[in-house]
Amino acid sequence: MRRFDGKVALVTGAASGIGRATAQRLVSEGASVLCCDVNEAGLQETLQSLAVEGRASAQICDVSDVAAARTAVAAAVQRYGGLDVLCNVAGIGRFQHTAEVTPEEWGRTLAINLSGTFYLCQAALPHLLERRGAIVNIASSAGLIGQAYSAAYCASKGGVVQLTKALAVEFARKGLRVNCVCPGGIMTPLLGGFRPPPGAEIDLVTRLKLVEEKAEPSEVAGAVAYLASEEARYVNGAVLSIDAGMVVS
Ligand SMILES: NC(=O)c1ccc[n+]([C@@H]2O[C@H](COP(=O)([O-])OP(=O)(O)OC[C@H]3O[C@@H](n4cnc5c(N)ncnc54)[C@H](O)[C@@H]3O)[C@@H](O)[C@H]2O)c1
Repeated sequence: MRRFDGKVALVTGAASGIGRATAQRLVSEGASVLCCDVNEAGLQETLQSLAVEGRASAQICDVSDVAAARTAVAAAVQRYGGLDVLCNVAGIGRFQHTAEVTPEEWGRTLAINLSGTFYLCQAALPHLLERRGAIVNIASSAGLIGQAYSAAYCASKGGVVQLTKALAVEFARKGLRVNCVCPGGIMTPLLGGFRPPPGAEIDLVTRLKLVEEKAEPSEVAGAVAYLASEEARYVNGAVLSIDAGMVVS
């Protein structure tokens, strides 16, 4: 499939996991992609894995820094002539007893997962509106259900779900689509932080799991690419779970 020939995408969190797989998928379908992340070495690995000349480049960008978010959007437009697709994938999280969450960690989680997503959306809006583009945000199953030991993560991802819906309605008549994906149990480095903390009640973190197997980042990237593509022309404000049924159990 070449659903993104001539299109330009900006992908955050592109140095690893789902962001890298998304960049790979979009490039393989013809897009030019600005790969954004705070991890420079990871970005270089992503670029090497893409092996395309001139259709992908790296941009160091801390999404929680509003100026950096605006610079990244401007870089995509300057390098590739516009912007059609924004994928907000960057995120952090881990299990932690709520009593041990410091104000700094609470703030950092909200700043990266939620504010960062908003900053990129806001900066990209005029360009996406110009091209009748699409935004795909990565929320989480933890944005839909209660997940123990995840107060800040749940709060931030629930915010991403609602941010997605708010933008979807506000811009529906202007041709911009905004959807989100809610993964759960995807094999990436992030998953390593979701180990039950000492003294945790294990059944609280396993209660919703229907299967033991995990999914690959590329499986999420396939859904992101669909939502970003013209095939999803009539899909707006959708919240797509990719979690083997966890949130319906
Ligand atoms: N892996 C899962 O099972 C799972 C489940 C639900 C949601 N998610 C979400 O998917 C997204 C991608 O996570 P992943 O699983 O691929 O993890 P990952 O750790 O492999 O990738 C996250 C990327 O975000 C980057 N990042 C962190 N802080 C950043 C910042 N301030 N600015 C820019 N980039 C930053 C990291 O450097 C990293 O490259 C996250 O939003 C995560 O919450 C993942």
